[in-house]
Formats: sequence, structure tokens, C-alpha cells
Amino acid sequence: MSMSIIYLSYLLAASLFILGIKGLTKPRTAVRGNQLSALGMLVAVVVTLLDKNILSYEWIIAGLLLGGAIGAIMATKIQVTAMPQMVALLNGFGGGASLFIAIASLLDPESATHSVAQVAIGVAVLIGAVTLSGSLIAFAKLQELIPGNPIRVPGNKFFNALLFAAALGLAIAIVITPDNTNLLYALACVSLLLGVLLVVPIGGADMPVVIALLNSYSGIAAATTGFITGNTVLIVAGALVGASGIILTKIMCKAMNRSLFNVLFGVMAAGGEAIDADEVYAGKIKSTSPEEVAMMLETAAKVVIVPGYGLAMAQAQHAVRELANLLQSRGTEVLYAIHPVAGRMPGHMNVLLAEAEVPYEQLIEMDEINPQFEQTDVAIVIGANDVTNPMAREDKGSPIYGMPILNVDKARTVIVVKRSLSPGFAGLPNPLFAKDNTLMLFGDGKKEIVELTQSLKEAD
Ligand code: TAP
Repeated sequence: MSMSIIYLSYLLAASLFILGIKGLTKPRTAVRGNQLSALGMLVAVVVTLLDKNILSYEWIIAGLLLGGAIGAIMATKIQVTAMPQMVALLNGFGGGASLFIAIASLLDPESATHSVAQVAIGVAVLIGAVTLSGSLIAFAKLQELIPGNPIRVPGNKFFNALLFAAALGLAIAIVITPDNTNLLYALACVSLLLGVLLVVPIGGADMPVVIALLNSYSGIAAATTGFITGNTVLIVAGALVGASGIILTKIMCKAMNRSLFNVLFGVMAAGGEAIDADEVYAGKIKSTSPEEVAMMLETAAKVVIVPGYGLAMAQAQHAVRELANLLQSRGTEVLYAIHPVAGRMPGHMNVLLAEAEVPYEQLIEMDEINPQFEQTDVAIVIGANDVTNPMAREDKGSPIYGMPILNVDKARTVIVVKRSLSPGFAGLPNPLFAKDNTLMLFGDGKKEIVELTQSLKEAD
């Protein structure tokens, strides 16, 4: 293949990756973004295999069919709730691939003779091995093969720092004496152990942040592998994954009010004083019924639905869509308020609502919907709790103080659909439930929404 065709193909692949990532930033364009990225990856893989004379056409086609079939089966079989562990596993494969390419390159006397490649080998082994073992531990935790809660190891921070220093020393030694393969194996072992110890102390609920971070590591490892093999598109793709992974990590930490340091070292947010739920709720909770809410909705001009983890638990997305359809057919404006960490994984609410075919233009992100609550007649909070807790805005002593929330309490009337006054993930009482303009509709999310829709239909 001529060099210009190869470089033009790589440029095309890199452009498709960038357009793909751009598409993934909005629910409406996410599917197309995914397809564009996959097309870019196809171009990159086929051109690389042909360019380096690695495989014949027959093998490439056989590989595409087999890999495509495995991918298609995994994509259709996987439950949305099992997505985090699948991503963890795929990150691990990425890290493992970089690790093995780096090892193979050093063992082959003809490749990686220049110093840039030797430095890249050290980095790729270190990061690739950390990603591989760390991702496998993350997978095992999420799949409940090992306990998902944080496992405290005494002296963990000190031991990790020691291992990291040893790994750096070994990586430098490899550059100085590339013929000594024992150093390479020692570096791989130390880094694998480091990956395990980095993830073991992290608790179940912090796992999505860790997975985003490991995703970023797998990208950095891939980019360094690109320097080893002299493959430009691998450098570009790896850098894009590395950068987008770290951006996602930062967004999630901010939305969960956790610093990356606290996530990595298993430190919980400063507790403040224990908050007594009775003090927050006593004598202030007003409950309502589906019939009463239906009467309020009859005259509402604007309704905002606020979904949370309980919507996923109740599998109420289709029922909610039906209610929204009914309201819209009566001339009510209906929007959905999407908090970045509502639920238990990034994009959880988007995926659920897309399953019920809620139009994308009705899904409004936090910053855009917050100023609209003051003009909202009824906000219906379904199974959301922490992401609506005004303590995050008002109570400096609260562990969630500073976490950005949906300002649902600014709506004229707030209906909260949940089974009890139990706290959400953060374990805190929610003063929203006790506000003058809040009514509690106690019960399972799906059941209550179905009854509410029925009452509204009967009122017509
Ligand atoms: P949560 O604060 O966890 O509250 C969920 C609420 O759903 C609970 O209070 C529960 O109350 C209710 N619920 C459960 N089953 C229900 C059912 N069948 N019907 C109706 N309600 C039901 O949820 P959220 O507001 O979505 O906040 C998410 C939390 O998870 C945040 O603290 C966030 O930091 C954390 N987190 C998020 C992520 C990502 S990436 N999204 C990852 C890890 C942790 P009842 O038991 O009274 O019904």
C-alpha cells in the first residue's frame, strides 16, 4: 500500500474518532457517534493490518466476521445494569493488549531499537499492567465474584507509593539495559500488583469513577504502544481515549462531590454531624394520592419529570412515558431533568428513557433545566433522592455540601414518588420531602405512575 493512502486512511480514521466523540456528547447524536467511531476503528484496523503485511485479506475478513459476531452477541445479551462490568472488562483487554505488545517488542531484537520506543515500552508495560489487573478486580467486584465493598489494606498508601517508585525505577533500568529481559518481567509483576492494590480499597459505589479512570489509563497505554510500533493512528486513538476518560472521571467526581484523591484512597467525604431524620421530617411530611395528583396535573401548563435510581429499580420508564404522552396530548409541556450522576452509572437515565423512546429533545441537562424550575407548575420526582437534596446547596456541614443538584424545590408543587422516607445512596435525610410545596406519593414508582395516569384518563 502506498504511504499516502495509508496516511490519508489514518487521517480519515482519526477524524471519524473525533466526530464520533462529539456525537457521543448528546443523546440525540450518540448512536450515530458510536457508529462513526466504529467505522473509524474498522478503517484503522484494516489499514494497519494491510500496511504492515500482518495478515492476508482472508484472515482479515474472517477476523471481522468472528469479532463482529461476538460483539453483536455481547451487545444484545448484556443487561443495561451489567454495562459497568463489561466496560471494566474491555478496559482490561485494552491494557492487556498494550502490555503484551510492549513485552513482545522488547523481546524482538529487530523492533524498538530507538530510545523513544524503549521509553514507551517501560511506560506501556507499567500502565498496561496496572490497567489489566485493576480492571479485572473492578470486574470481579461488580460481578460480585469478590466483595464489592472497599477492602481496607493496612499501609495501603505507603505500599502503593513504594510499588510505584519500584516500577518507575525498573522502567528507567529497562531503557538503560534493554537486553535484560528479567527487568521487563519484574516491571510487569510489580505493575500488576500495583493495579490490584489500587482498586481493592475502592468501594462499590465509587467503581464507576474508577472504571472511567482505568478507561483513561487504557488509552494512555495504547498511545504509548503507538510510539513503540510507529503507528500514528494508535497514538491518536489512545490519546483521545486517555483524554476523554480523564474528563469523564473529573465530571463524575464533581457531580458526586468526591475528590479523585478520596476516590482513589477510599476516603469518604467529611461526615459533618450525624443528621437526625426525625428532626428534618417530624410533623412536616404531607402525603398525597394518585387521584389528588391527577387533579393538579389537569391544570398544569408545565411539568418536569425528575428520574433517579428508583425509576430504574421500579422499571417505570414506559409508565412515565405514557403519562407524559397523555399530558402532552392535553397541551401540557413535559420535560425530563437529567442529573449527571442520577442512577448508578454515567448516562443511566438517558439509557432508560431512550429504551422507552422518550424524545431526546425532552431530556434536559441539569444546567439548562435548573433555571426553568421556577416556571414549572409540577415537578414529579420519581425515585430520585440525593440529586434533589437541597442540603447540598444550603447546609455547609453536610457531606454532600457543594454537590450540584436539580433545584426541584423551586417548582410551584413537587410530587415525590418513592416507597418510604428511606435515604438514597448518600444515606442522608432530604429536606425537600418536608418543604411546604412538596407532597409525597408513597409507593412503588411504576405502580403509582400507572395509577396516576389512570386517574388522569378518568378525569377526562
Ligand atoms: P438515590 O439518592 O440513590 O435515591 C434513590 C431512591 O429511589 C431511594 O431513596 C429509594 O427510596 C427510591 N426507590 C428505590 N426503589 C424504588 C421503587 N421501586 N420505586 C420508587 N422509588 C424507589 O438516587 P439518585 O437521586 O438517582 O442519586 C444517585 C446517587 O448515586 C447519588 O448519590 C450519586 O452520587 C450516586 N452514584 C451515582 C453514580 C452514577 S455514575 N450515576 C455512580 C455511583 C453512585 P425508597 O426506598 O423510599 O423507595
